[in-house]
Parts: sequence; structure tokens; C-alpha cells
Amino acid sequence: MLIPLILSGGSGTRLWPVSRRNLPKQFLSLAGHGTLFQQTVARTRELPDVAAPIVVASEDHRFLAAEQLREAGIDGGAVVLEPLARNTAPAIALGALEALKHDPDALLLVLPADHLIGDTHGFVDAVQRALPAARQGWLATFGIRPDRAETGFGYIRRGAALDEGAFRVERFVEKPDLATAEGYLADGGYDWNSGMFLFRADRYLEELGMHAPAMLAAVRAAHAAAHADLDFVRVDKELFAKVPEDSIDYAVMEKTARAAVIPVSCSWSDIGSWSALWLAGERDAEGNLREGDTLAVDTRNSLLRSHDRHLIATVGVNDLIVVSTPDATLVAHRDAAQDVKKVVEQLKSAN
Ligand code: GDD
Ligand code: MG
Repeated sequence: MLIPLILSGGSGTRLWPVSRRNLPKQFLSLAGHGTLFQQTVARTRELPDVAAPIVVASEDHRFLAAEQLREAGIDGGAVVLEPLARNTAPAIALGALEALKHDPDALLLVLPADHLIGDTHGFVDAVQRALPAARQGWLATFGIRPDRAETGFGYIRRGAALDEGAFRVERFVEKPDLATAEGYLADGGYDWNSGMFLFRADRYLEELGMHAPAMLAAVRAAHAAAHADLDFVRVDKELFAKVPEDSIDYAVMEKTARAAVIPVSCSWSDIGSWSALWLAGERDAEGNLREGDTLAVDTRNSLLRSHDRHLIATVGVNDLIVVSTPDATLVAHRDAAQDVKKVVEQLKSAN
């Protein structure tokens, strides 16, 4: 059975001041129809023969996740709650263990909850093309053609063709530095890792056992001690705290010999920062992306976002991000959008 596993534990600090600890970006309507989480859930409903999703989220966001699932009309999925964040490799392991309770042959479609995908048909088509490789035991990734030397992504070098539009992964490099990313872009043989994966749940655990055995053992122990509470699966806090922190990309994908890549052509973006939202959004003739009450005079290539009828006016500026909320205003250069997380870090250490 094909089971979507929705990763929803990120905190979205680069989208401060709209994304907050209690209401992170995946649960917000930032672009498109509904929240990013709900759009992710809705996309899975377009897949043939698909089960209800397993959501892995922070305990702090359990009611948000449950409420948004209900609103999306989902019945019967599981919500696994992490008492603390250990990054994606453990989160996916929890989802895999949960899936195997229901189906020993479960195929897991891992989906980040914060992506914007313009074309659902392209997504469905890509998943279908990945199914044969995943059934044969490959860890399937979805490759996006890069158009810039982005350092926040993983890069995949395509190897020999497998079948039906899948290729062996020759090399997987997570978040290279700028010079390396520029080299990959010029080379032309690399795709971005989209962050979505398709594999058998048991195969993922096997690979984790090979490359990060301590992590697998610790996740197994925490999951075995989990308890059901209403519709939630609560993972044991003391045991989960012992799980080493790492992403699937570093812990498994860079190391496995059994990765495949399925090239994807649909429009895709990881709404990781305000500049990513600006890039993905519908900009006006001056290149501005505006939301709420804004007035832009002689302003270009900027993102202006106001909440609660607070007017933002800009004059004679370019490449700015201005976001106001009732209790905070952000003004940043578009090129510095990644550093917005530093504001959150400083606020945290001040508290
Ligand atoms: N449940 C849970 N627990 N979810 C998590 C955790 C966690 O501890 N940490 C992150 N997530 C969720 C995030 O909410 C997001 O939906 C997804 O997992 C991916 O995490 P990110 O932190 O956004 O990863 P990234 O964007 O830096 O990198 C990944 O995605 C890129 C494409 O967007 C990698 O897979 C890259 O290789 C890839 O290019
Ligand atoms: Mg991301």
C-alpha cells in the first residue's frame, strides 16, 4: 500500500515574523489555496490507491495538525508526535515503523509539508514513474532541474538508466558550498533533490541500520514505548531525546548505494525563505509581490506583506523584503533572506 508520510516538524524561522513557534509556516496560508500542509495533503488525494497519510509533527502542533487534517476531510490517518525535533532521518524512521504496523509491504511517499507544487498532474505522474523502482527496493528521489546555484538543496548526479524514466544516483551531495554548486550547475549533469522520497518502509529502516545503526536502535526504542492518546501516537520523550539528530540526506542518501532519481518537470518550490516565496509568487509588472495594504512608489523586485490593515508604503527602493505583523516588522534585503533566522536566534537567546 502507498502511504504518504508528511513531515511537518520544521519551525520555519526564516519566515519570521509571520511564521512563529506556535504557528510555523507549514500551517499558514502563504501562497496558493489553503495552508501549505493542507495543499500537501490534498495533493496526496490525487494519487491512485493511496492510504490516508501518516503525519509526523511536533507535539506542540498536534491540534493544528489534527484540525487541518479534519478540514481537509482526512479520516483514519495517524499523527505521530515528536516530543522534540531530531531532524528528518529519525522522523521518517518513526513514520516507517508506524506504517509497518499496518502493512509489511508499505511503500512510503515522504513529503515535506512546506512545498509549493504548481502542477498536481506532474506530481502524480512522477510518483507513478517512481513506483516500479521503489517496489524493487530502490530509494527513489525526485530530481528537479536546477536554474541557479542554490546552496540550500541537495544535488544528485544522474547515473545509468534503470527503467521507465528512473536513473541510478551516481552521487548525492547535500547542501554543497557555493563554488561547488556553481560547478554542478555548469556541469549540467546534476539535479536538485526535491526533498520528496519514495521507498519501501522496510528498505529505509534497513539502510538506516547500515549507515546509522545507533539512530535506528534509539528510534526503535522510542517508538516501542510510544502510547496512543486520542488520535495521536505519542513518542516517549526520554527515549527520543537519546536519538542522534540528522537529516535523511546526510544520514542515508549521501551513503546508500541503492538510490534512484526520477526527473520531475512540474513547477516546484521549497518555501524556505521570503526570497523563495517572492520567486514562486505572482509578481506585478515592477517585480513586486504584494499582499495586504501596500503602496509601492518607484519600488522594484520587492516583497511587501502587510497584515491586519496596516499600510506598508515604500518609495525609491529595490530588492527589499518588508513584512509587518501586529507585533513585529521585518525589513531585509532580498539577498539576506536566509539570515532572517538569525533574528529568531537572537530573540530566543534574549529570552
Ligand atoms: N517531523 C519532523 N521532525 N519534520 C521535520 C523535522 C523534524 O525534526 N525537521 C524538518 N522537518 C520537516 C520540515 O518541516 C520540512 O517539511 C521537511 O522536513 C524538510 O526539512 P527542511 O529543514 O526544510 O530541509 P531542507 O529544505 O533544509 O533540505 C531538504 O529539502 C531540500 C528541498 O527542499 C533536503 O532534502 C535537501 O536535499 C532538499 O534539496
Ligand atoms: Mg525545506
